[in-house]
Amino acid sequence: MSASGVEAPDRLLIRDLAQLATPSRRSAPLRRAELGAVDVIENAYVLCEQGRINHVGKMRDLGPLTGEVAELDGRGLSAIPGLVDCHTHACFAGDRVGEFALRASGASYEELHAAGGGILSTVRATRDADEARLDTALERHVAWMLRSGTTTFEAKSGYGLDRETELAQLRVVRRAGGIPTWLGAHAVPPEFTDAGPAAYVDFLLAEVLPDAAQVAEAADIFLERGAFGVEEARRYLQACQNVGLALRLHGDQFTEAGAIPLAIELGARSVDHLESTGPGGIAALAASDVVGVLLPASALFLGRPMPPGRALADAGAAVALATDFNPGSAFCESLPLICSLACTQLGLSPEEALTACTVNAAHVLERAHRKGRLAPGYDADIVLIGADDWRHLAYHLGGPVVHTVLQGGRISWNSRA
Ligand code: NIG
Ligand code: FE
Repeated sequence: MSASGVEAPDRLLIRDLAQLATPSRRSAPLRRAELGAVDVIENAYVLCEQGRINHVGKMRDLGPLTGEVAELDGRGLSAIPGLVDCHTHACFAGDRVGEFALRASGASYEELHAAGGGILSTVRATRDADEARLDTALERHVAWMLRSGTTTFEAKSGYGLDRETELAQLRVVRRAGGIPTWLGAHAVPPEFTDAGPAAYVDFLLAEVLPDAAQVAEAADIFLERGAFGVEEARRYLQACQNVGLALRLHGDQFTEAGAIPLAIELGARSVDHLESTGPGGIAALAASDVVGVLLPASALFLGRPMPPGRALADAGAAVALATDFNPGSAFCESLPLICSLACTQLGLSPEEALTACTVNAAHVLERAHRKGRLAPGYDADIVLIGADDWRHLAYHLGGPVVHTVLQGGRISWNSRA
């Protein structure tokens, strides 16, 4: 992620923190009781060295430090791990504020999509933008995410749907410091309306996948009525897996169209959305290693039912939380707001919400060994919450809870700057 702060000191002590909160367990993904297991240290410090966390503990146990150590005053603040947004569509041109107004007067998201708006209107804007304009657009969105405490983000393609623009999106995400996911199968573009989704998948696999696989870490597909069906999804995902990409699925957003069984069959990293998932899907996901990524901003923004977060957690599923930041279904970059929604709408505790957008989200992005906890050896990606109780992260509904953000031991955003 790009950042504009001072150089990282070799050693940094964040001292006199009111609290430090971190998911306890080193393994990932966390589920059942471990999902809510958060260690809280009062009157705490964090010692960072060479961009990593060297030590955390209580101030009274901090021994004398020799040599040069930069200090940051943590009085009145609470430290949590840098937030990890494992599902965004942050690389896009234009906006859909006009459609937002139409939806406010009664038009549905699916109707707008069927009439050539929705995803396809962002596809037109993104195809029209050159790569430098996409860089600028994403940099703006990354700055919004950063000041909300996101220190690691994934972003998908899927607004190009042609070879050139899909690859441009992936490069732009990589340049902005994000983790690129190839979502070539997001919608069927207009030039394939007559030939249909199967022919479009043929094109994607033959013409785009070989190059997309050089830049992306994962592949994703929108498995849904009006988008892609199970057979096309299996073919697309298997081909992507064969060239080394991890698998993700947009599933059960509007209908249960087979995403969970397919995700389990193929050993996908995650299935994301789940607003329509019923008891069978919940039980199947809970018995699997696939993470359920919950996107409550999308449900809220579209006036849809919330995903069954509590039922999934109680059944033992590994759940993560993400923004789904995109111009159509979730114009929201704030993981603190997502944590609020998780507590007020999904029935998760603040502790479960924290784990879901740190360790478990990092697991979805295959980075849980370095990201998502405040413990020795992890990257010094740290968010200082402007309150003496870290749970203000979720408590303050949409408020400016983030005081300071550090990435790799360097201040990359400060609310006072
Ligand atoms: O995750 N459901 C499919 N894709 C996105 C929405 C993209 C858009 O509307 O531009 C989602 O909600
Ligand atoms: Fe999405």
